[in-house]
Amino acid sequence: MRKRVLVATGGGDCPGLNAVIRAIVLRASRERDWEVVGSINAFDGVLNEPNEIVVLNEKEVAGIHIRGGTIIGTTNKGGPFAWPIKTPEGKWDSADRSDEMLRRLQYLGVEAVVNIGGDGSQAISQRLFEKGLNIIGVPKTIDNDLSATDFTFGFQTAVQEATTAVDKLVTTAASHNRVFVLEVMGRDAGWIALHSAVAGGADVCLIPEIPYDTSKIMEKIYSRFHRGRGYAIIVIAEGAKPVGGEAQYQESNEVGYKNVRLGGVASKLIHELKEAGLETDMRETVLGHLQRGGTPIAYDRVLATQFGYKAFEMVLSQEYGKMVAYRHPNIVAVPFHEAIAHYNYVDPESDLVQAARGIGICMGD
Ligand code: F6P
Repeated sequence: MRKRVLVATGGGDCPGLNAVIRAIVLRASRERDWEVVGSINAFDGVLNEPNEIVVLNEKEVAGIHIRGGTIIGTTNKGGPFAWPIKTPEGKWDSADRSDEMLRRLQYLGVEAVVNIGGDGSQAISQRLFEKGLNIIGVPKTIDNDLSATDFTFGFQTAVQEATTAVDKLVTTAASHNRVFVLEVMGRDAGWIALHSAVAGGADVCLIPEIPYDTSKIMEKIYSRFHRGRGYAIIVIAEGAKPVGGEAQYQESNEVGYKNVRLGGVASKLIHELKEAGLETDMRETVLGHLQRGGTPIAYDRVLATQFGYKAFEMVLSQEYGKMVAYRHPNIVAVPFHEAIAHYNYVDPESDLVQAARGIGICMGD
């Protein structure tokens, strides 16, 4: 019987996931004694009754590198350590099903697991590795918030989408003499906002790492409006906050959803600017999941392919307990504990922030 490597995609979907899956399958197809299987919706496929495990071969993955999303599905709820269960009182609680999952993997003949996911998924990888599972991680997120890797795949595609949005908003802003506030994703990191603001030529860029002061933003807007005419583009990261204030969270009552949901910061900023006396016409655009879906750009396909290839090489060399990472120009393996130790924040002193300031972008301070 052939040895099985099980692939799972966890957390929010991300352009490039399919390119990773394809690379693993294509590389594995050159080894006679290995077979790749996919678990549907992260590890739910292993834990569901009956299980949902699919064999992935060359035919299944043909052409998928150009498709967004993930052909094996994903979830950012629950997981083997916090499986949602309903109590007899009808309330939701969670159960640790990790030991059961390891038994199920053994029963399925799984020799190794490749877990493609963000920091939450890689924290699960670390715990499963500590329990003895042969597991390898592949970093994924449009947020680029994993410090162990120079870039995660999906990030550049998200930046491209956000930049296209800035380009389009400029035309309406200029025609109507308006201020447009574009809200982009990124959780607690301002990478997407910073890159798209620089690429799109925004006037103001607000990121979680630099709390903003509305008076500084207004100064910048006034300087852009002459005799009542002009326009301005503000790119704001969903996790941005005012000096002394908090990020804007939304309630989520979805079962098993662990993340706090960010969102609404663009309309909050408009409200704050109005309160502060800004009379200009202002509109908000929340880019939302449009920056996370769709076709990965070439850069992300290449990075994802390299990650998938490397992950399978690590299976062959039994380099378990590690996550694939990009450290220019190499693709390396980093122990999980190191990979998840630090969040990847934008450094306010970094060259890119300096360049943004240097060309006149107001960073809100
Ligand atoms: O982590 C990726 C991400 O897209 C964040 O930028 C965002 O805050 C979050 O996921 C949104 O998640 P959901 O799919 O639950 O709306």
